Amino acid sequence: MEVHIPRNNPVPINEATLREGASIYMSECAFCHGVPAIESQVGVNTFPKAPQFFRHHATGNRPPDSANRAAAYHWFVENGVRLTAMPSFKHVLTDREQWEVANLLAVSETPLPESVKKVLAGSAD
Ligand code: HEC
Repeated sequence: MEVHIPRNNPVPINEATLREGASIYMSECAFCHGVPAIESQVGVNTFPKAPQFFRHHATGNRPPDSANRAAAYHWFVENGVRLTAMPSFKHVLTDREQWEVANLLAVSETPLPESVKKVLAGSAD
């Protein structure tokens, strides 16, 4: 299978776009992938398990992110992972939305702006 990972990220990583990514994450992803404060009890019980992205932040067991990581995440969001619980969002999110949420994951181990943390805590205005 040919895997094409688009590298030209059209969405800059800044507070406003991360906030967009965080609200997409809350409505489409947190159910399986958890939020900074709480693991998903669904995601830790699928086989294979859904990575708890913000847990990596807590345990620091992953290397620092590179710009290319957003492109890899975008690929997973667009295509899903066959034979796992990870769905494809190709027909659910626009390409821009896929980049926004991929960018959020790419920086999920680094300190996030307060307004983004608020969205991920479910306490944004
Ligand atoms: C119904 C549960 C479910 C939902 C909803 C879901 N995922 Fe996943 N996701 C999974 C599972 C399970 C895996 C692990 C697949 C594997 O191990 O191959 C996964 C894997 C991934 C990966 C690969 C991670 C890695 O490091 O290997 C990415 C990226 C990802 N998901 C992003 C997202 C995003 C972004 C959303 C929301 C737009 C989302 N997922 C929604 C279950 C889900």
